[in-house]
Amino acid sequence: MPGIDTSKPHPARMYDYYLGGKNHFAADRETAEKGLATWQSGRLAARENRAFLGRAVRFLAGEAGIRQFLDIGTGLPTTNNVHEVAQAAAPTSRIVYADNDPLVLAHARALLTSSPEGRTAYIHADLRDPQSILSDPAVLEVLDFSQPIALMLVAILHFVPDEFKPAQVIATLTGALPPGSYLVASHITGEHDPDGPATGARAYRAAGLPAQLRDSDQFAQLAFSGLDLVPPGVVLVSEWRPEGDGPRPTPAEVSWYGGVARIP
Ligand SMILES: C[S@@+](CC[C@H](N)C(=O)[O-])C[C@H]1O[C@@H](n2cnc3c(N)ncnc32)[C@H](O)[C@@H]1O
Repeated sequence: MPGIDTSKPHPARMYDYYLGGKNHFAADRETAEKGLATWQSGRLAARENRAFLGRAVRFLAGEAGIRQFLDIGTGLPTTNNVHEVAQAAAPTSRIVYADNDPLVLAHARALLTSSPEGRTAYIHADLRDPQSILSDPAVLEVLDFSQPIALMLVAILHFVPDEFKPAQVIATLTGALPPGSYLVASHITGEHDPDGPATGARAYRAAGLPAQLRDSDQFAQLAFSGLDLVPPGVVLVSEWRPEGDGPRPTPAEVSWYGGVARIP
């Protein structure tokens, strides 16, 4: 596949490695292991983030009545992809996936298994160029911007350091959505473990991948300023409407914030 460079690590493939998937190469594993050497709960944290994504989509498609999703930073297809969760609750749900990793594009067919009543589409796009996402013909064909849309920025904002003006990027995207739309976001933090996540972020940067940790206030301000946070607000992903009453990991183990907010 053109554009796929297996000699350099990519966030989607490293995340797939943490989740126990099969779509990763030596360079991905090497960089991932450098982070995991200090952040030993990194795999558990990735699974907690993925579970948060599933609960958030179930909330949106179930309780909030959302039928349209724009999922930027999709990752490689795995279990509980957004359309599978949303269409299990509401088969008419329409989902556009976007990612900038050519390997995700190569696997996109697995994301296009829509229910007959709904629609899914995939676009190769970069979050840092939000206008190109909003004007993409597939986005305009599948999503109706006069009806509420859930914008999903799950586990992607820590790949957009301040120099790329992420607040402006988010404002451009949320500004294009009608009232009653939602934003779901999650973000790695160094707040509860000063070593592990920071070592992980350093390993990403050393491999040429942009990465920035943010604390809960920085994340809340970046992602949710001016929006109405849905209870319980910005919390560790493991604490966002957890299901079941089994033991949950410690804040240091999770080190990952998440939240869901309504666009007024
Ligand atoms: C950690 S994965 C998250 C996958 C999924 N959202 C989840 O939370 O389970 C991050 C994804 O964001 C993508 N990504 C990183 N930076 C991006 C950018 N600037 N534009 C588009 N996608 C990006 C990566 O390729 C990767 O697939």
